Amino acid sequence: MKNLIIAIDGPSGVGKSTLSRILSLDLGYINLDTGAMYRAVALAATRRGIDATDHEALRQLCDEIIIEFARNKSEERVLLNGEDVSAAIRTPEISLLTAAIAACPDVRHAMVARQRELGAGGGVVLEGRDIGTVVFPHADVKFFLKASAEVRGRRRFLELQTKGVAVDLARTIAEVQVRDTADTTRTMSPLVQAEDAVVIDTTELDIPQVLERMFTVVADSHRADESSQAD
Ligand code: DC
Repeated sequence: MKNLIIAIDGPSGVGKSTLSRILSLDLGYINLDTGAMYRAVALAATRRGIDATDHEALRQLCDEIIIEFARNKSEERVLLNGEDVSAAIRTPEISLLTAAIAACPDVRHAMVARQRELGAGGGVVLEGRDIGTVVFPHADVKFFLKASAEVRGRRRFLELQTKGVAVDLARTIAEVQVRDTADTTRTMSPLVQAEDAVVIDTTELDIPQVLERMFTVVADSHRADESSQAD
């Protein structure tokens, strides 16, 4: 069977991370959380005192840092220069800063190049905002997930609460909206739906229901590939 490139795009809190993790594990694929890469850049910038508006310093920073992923059984770890920063990149402060950092063209160039390098061989699920439009516009399968800001904020709140992070529901929903605005209005690679993406509204669906739809689309893509090879 062909090793597919699967793109999953959508706003924050829509379920991309959970879905891409399960999908990649089931298919035996690499899972690439591209948001974690932008978050790692934001964390590195904070530690070095680099401002989100200092594009030259951010460009240099991207040249210097090494971002890697490690999978320990089903758990994904993000490494920044060898250090496990999986928890440090998920704080509300880093989330807000990441939206600003991800708008810097030099940061995007560097991250997109790395994502293409990591995903080029196929057998990969990439999740982010611009995968189906910019990183891999010819991806074999493209999903665009959506859900209301209220529902996404609530999901994010519960997720952070489970991790023991002290959070406030109204604030979490407001932060989701601020990030939505930043992600959809930036000049470079804003969050937009690819024309050929399969759109799934997850507002009223649970994870197994969304997965069922995704697996059907992936199976259809495998079938289409097999029949085109047979022709
Ligand atoms: O998916 P996430 O919440 O971890 O993403 C963190 C931030 O990075 C979010 O503000 C959107 C941005 N991002 C992006 O601009 N492009 C991507 N491919 C992935 C994330």
